[in-house]
Amino acid sequence: MNFVGRRKSSSLAGAGAGADAFGGKHAVASLRKGGRLPVYVASVFFVLCVIVMYAEDIRSLTYEPLARVPAPTVPAADDAASASAGRQKVVAVPRRDISSSEKPAAVLHRGDQEKPKQHAVTATAEPAPAVETPQKKVATSSSKKKPAGKKAKKARRQRAARKTVVPPALGVPETCDLSKGRWVFDNTSYPLYREEECQFLTSQVTCMRNGRRDDTYQKWRWQPKDCSMPRFDAKLFMERLRGKRFMFVGDSLNRNQWESMVCLLQSASPPGKKYVSWEGQRVVFHAWAFNATVEFYWAPFLVESNSDDPKIHSIQDRIIKADTIAAHAENWRGVDYLVFNTYIWWMNTLNMKVVRPGGQSWEEHDEVVRIEAYRKVLTTWARWVNENVDPARTSVFFMSMSPLHLSPQVWGNPDGIRCAKETMPLLDWHGPLWLGMDWDMFHQAKNVSRAASPRVPITFVDITTMSERRKDGHTSVHTIRQGKVLGPEEQADPGTYADCIHWCLPGVPDIWNLVLYTRIMSRPAVQFG
Ligand SMILES: *[C@@H]1O[C@H](CO)[C@@H](O)[C@H](O)[C@H]1NC(C)=O
Ligand SMILES: *[C@@H]1O[C@H](CO)[C@@H](O)[C@H](O)[C@H]1NC(C)=O
Ligand SMILES: *[C@@H]1O[C@H](CO)[C@@H](O)[C@H](O)[C@H]1NC(C)=O
Repeated sequence: MNFVGRRKSSSLAGAGAGADAFGGKHAVASLRKGGRLPVYVASVFFVLCVIVMYAEDIRSLTYEPLARVPAPTVPAADDAASASAGRQKVVAVPRRDISSSEKPAAVLHRGDQEKPKQHAVTATAEPAPAVETPQKKVATSSSKKKPAGKKAKKARRQRAARKTVVPPALGVPETCDLSKGRWVFDNTSYPLYREEECQFLTSQVTCMRNGRRDDTYQKWRWQPKDCSMPRFDAKLFMERLRGKRFMFVGDSLNRNQWESMVCLLQSASPPGKKYVSWEGQRVVFHAWAFNATVEFYWAPFLVESNSDDPKIHSIQDRIIKADTIAAHAENWRGVDYLVFNTYIWWMNTLNMKVVRPGGQSWEEHDEVVRIEAYRKVLTTWARWVNENVDPARTSVFFMSMSPLHLSPQVWGNPDGIRCAKETMPLLDWHGPLWLGMDWDMFHQAKNVSRAASPRVPITFVDITTMSERRKDGHTSVHTIRQGKVLGPEEQADPGTYADCIHWCLPGVPDIWNLVLYTRIMSRPAVQFG
């Protein structure tokens, strides 16, 4: 399988070459004759078309997920009222019963929120004996990294005496490119959990419960070309997360992935020792027995924007502050695993509205070419990481773009309607696909991840290539809209209602998490105790 053509020019050539003759492609292909310039023009034209055609979808679908799930507007003050408010929310989020109601929940997470740094210090350092990660005390080398600030220095000194290095549990080499490979049908090992077994799934993603008939989409294993990925071991991973915070930061696709991670992990926590709570910008899964949290933080542009309200962000004119990140980033301090993304919110206009330097209000903005604004934002983000993250403690990841499947003629199904009725991945597709992905943004993110944070490594995780083949994996009409599962009439009209952005669970995001799992478990870890 050819996964090479990531650049616009080669993608386009591939699209032309692989053409099973459909209108769109002919138009594009014929433009190629004149050489590189027309190729460029054609690709810009194509992206434009996609944007124009689907801007409304992207607009409406991107803001829905969080808006649909009831959440407290603002977390009340630290008192019993907020505790009970929080718990009500917990019950409201996943539709099934949540074990949280009995829990002295709020007490724990309040403290957690206020003093994230001390979290790890007091946590139990030794993973349980059952796990196959032999503990080795390692002489604590006096830290070589430059401390980010006085506070960090002090915290580190406190920790230094009781630092334990956990050797890797897996041996998948960092050099193995997990993004290149193929999907293999595997109904013995997959799905990794069952839809009805995970009480934390929201009805946005429970496609079977929402009326989907085929479940083949749950049964695909990703086989990288040059190495193999392990099976996800929830217990092993929970031990690695003991006393730690794992946080996804970004948009609704990252929230999709957070839900997947929670479901992958929750079986390792005994009943009654796990729950989900809403805390302002965050949704937090608490694995109580492990003193660990897996969190999602809503920041669709990473930097500050007028779309940052986790509940109300149906904003037509999205405006960002490209160099202002502190208010969000304060909440990322002291987190042990940070997984970022940002993409879909950029896609409904060609230019981005960016508040001018020194601008006092959202109105004082300029229109900036998207790719340029994206680069600025990512640079702001990477700089923050570089200056504020302790690389001895925290691992940082950036998830690449999750593709949309809106144009079935692109994958040779001229009678299709968006991603509706797609039940199989693209298994024998050679060459790139023209799904409207902005590969310039992909490369920009990859480059910034590599280059703009020299002190703190950022692992860029390519999920785009593998996910492009998974036209079958989206929630389509088996999802919710404005808080309600689509009714029969809406389901019968996929042209209007199919969501081909988000993914069913169990499903594709489980594999993204398996990639994170593979990377994390193949590296040594530091436990502070
Ligand atoms: C797996 O798929 C094969 C082929 O479709 C089928 O014969 C078999 O019964 C399936 N096994 C399970 C456990 O579903
Ligand atoms: C969890 O951490 C808290 C402090 O953060 C500590 O008091 C408690 O003993 C820990 N509990 C477990 C089960 O490790
Ligand atoms: C990659 O990023 C570095 C640092 O941010 C920058 O100097 C360089 O020009 C970038 N290269 C490309 C090809 O974008």
